[in-house]
Amino acid sequence: MRIIAANDYEDMSKKAAAILMAQVVTKPDSILGLATGSTPIGLYKNLIRWYEEGLVDFSRVRTWNLDEYRGLPRDNDQSYYYFMHENLFDHINLPKEASHVLNGMNPDPEAECASYDAAIDAAGGLDIQLLGLGHDGHIAFNEPQDDFPAGTHCVDLNPITIEANARFFASRDEVPRQAYTMGIGSIMKARRILMVVSGADKAQALKQVIEGPVTPQVPGSILRFHPDVTIVATKDALGATGAK
Ligand code: GLP
Repeated sequence: MRIIAANDYEDMSKKAAAILMAQVVTKPDSILGLATGSTPIGLYKNLIRWYEEGLVDFSRVRTWNLDEYRGLPRDNDQSYYYFMHENLFDHINLPKEASHVLNGMNPDPEAECASYDAAIDAAGGLDIQLLGLGHDGHIAFNEPQDDFPAGTHCVDLNPITIEANARFFASRDEVPRQAYTMGIGSIMKARRILMVVSGADKAQALKQVIEGPVTPQVPGSILRFHPDVTIVATKDALGATGAK
């Protein structure tokens, strides 16, 4: 596990964007696993700027996103499909058919999830997976539980996650109760993992990931078993750990 300390959110966003950009520059047909949440927004802004400056080209890249709320139409501004278009896809030269986000409106969870993992495998697997970190240690929408789910699946969201995401909706009642998410196994198959973490409110979760026991009760802790993980975190997020 490589841990890179950043001074603040801007610094974290730049350092992490540089890692993703280097991935695409060195392998122009990279398969990227992308993430939503507030943490990667600054990273995406840097990628857009560097694309506009001609430093990086996405014309041969393909992307798969981690997760999507179940039952939220793609034109809802809180869907992850909408988020990705607004914060990245609409601003770079990624071909329209090259981005993949789970379809939250598919009423058949098994069909939606099985075909997603199969498509990633058929494309050759993820070169790098970008991750944020939930307050309860979740990655994608893999909540604390008794085992590590392998493939993409449908989940019931934890009250703490519903609460954390309520800030984006008009009211808590509007937050979907379920989501489709890549499994821990889908994430661990990626050749590289890049996690971004910002803010003192994530310090306890990050400490558990880096230093606590590897347990499905802290889903992100599984990353300690992955051979190529880079965590770019702000100093306050690293504040509870030995890494400064
Ligand atoms: C959601 C997403 C996760 C994300 C997490 C943290 O639950 N499904 O992929 O990492 O929120 O989000 P934020 O970066 O806004 O703290």
